[in-house]
Amino acid sequence: MKIIGANFKMNFKKDDINNYLEVIKNKFPIDNIIFFPSDLYIENFAKNNYLVGSQNISFQEFGAVTGDTSILQLKELGIKYTLIGHSERRKYFNDDNYIADKMKLALKNDIIPVLCIGESLREYENNLTKDKLKEQIDIALKDNRSDKIIIAYEPIWSIGTGKIPTNDILTEIISFIKNYINENYQINLKVIYGGSVNLDNILELNKINNLDGYLIGGATLNPNKFLELIDKIK
Ligand code: PGA
Repeated sequence: MKIIGANFKMNFKKDDINNYLEVIKNKFPIDNIIFFPSDLYIENFAKNNYLVGSQNISFQEFGAVTGDTSILQLKELGIKYTLIGHSERRKYFNDDNYIADKMKLALKNDIIPVLCIGESLREYENNLTKDKLKEQIDIALKDNRSDKIIIAYEPIWSIGTGKIPTNDILTEIISFIKNYINENYQINLKVIYGGSVNLDNILELNKINNLDGYLIGGATLNPNKFLELIDKIK
């Protein structure tokens, strides 16, 4: 069964979340779908027995980091997963500097890291995708080997833009990521794809054999449409 991550980003207020939960109630098996809502609503999903993850964790475990949220606090709310290094975090919050620390904290606390990696448009156009991915993988995995880690390949130029790589390119990149990690770290990791996944492209994406699932943003925000999407992925 494919992994489906729903990344809500900084969307939804309390009423929207309650409505969302009402719409999806009893509509699908919950063991392969992971919700990544704002921290404020993690508990709403956990209480209803959905798999839930945070969109981020602090680089420190606990204590004096004003405005951050500790993995220990997030665990109390019920997370089993966390995104690490989403490109929006790397862009706005310098997360490139904290990836290794966050990976270590997640694994230490038995939280499954969903490590987001991906190249910029400029890197893609200059044929630097693999170099960029290697660099991001090495920083994250060097001291943090675990076969629990999930890799989310998200080309930055695909996120929220409607543009996605061709199936041939994706097949090649996914197998590159898996082989590189296997050869250098002796672990076999699942790789999911993120970036403009939607109802229009999902059937085509489903043809990619070596893909283990999806991390989906915009197309999860309407719960009815998300249910349709889930139906097409199964
Ligand atoms: P998108 O976002 O599906 O809206 O492109 C994916 C993501 O940022 O994880």
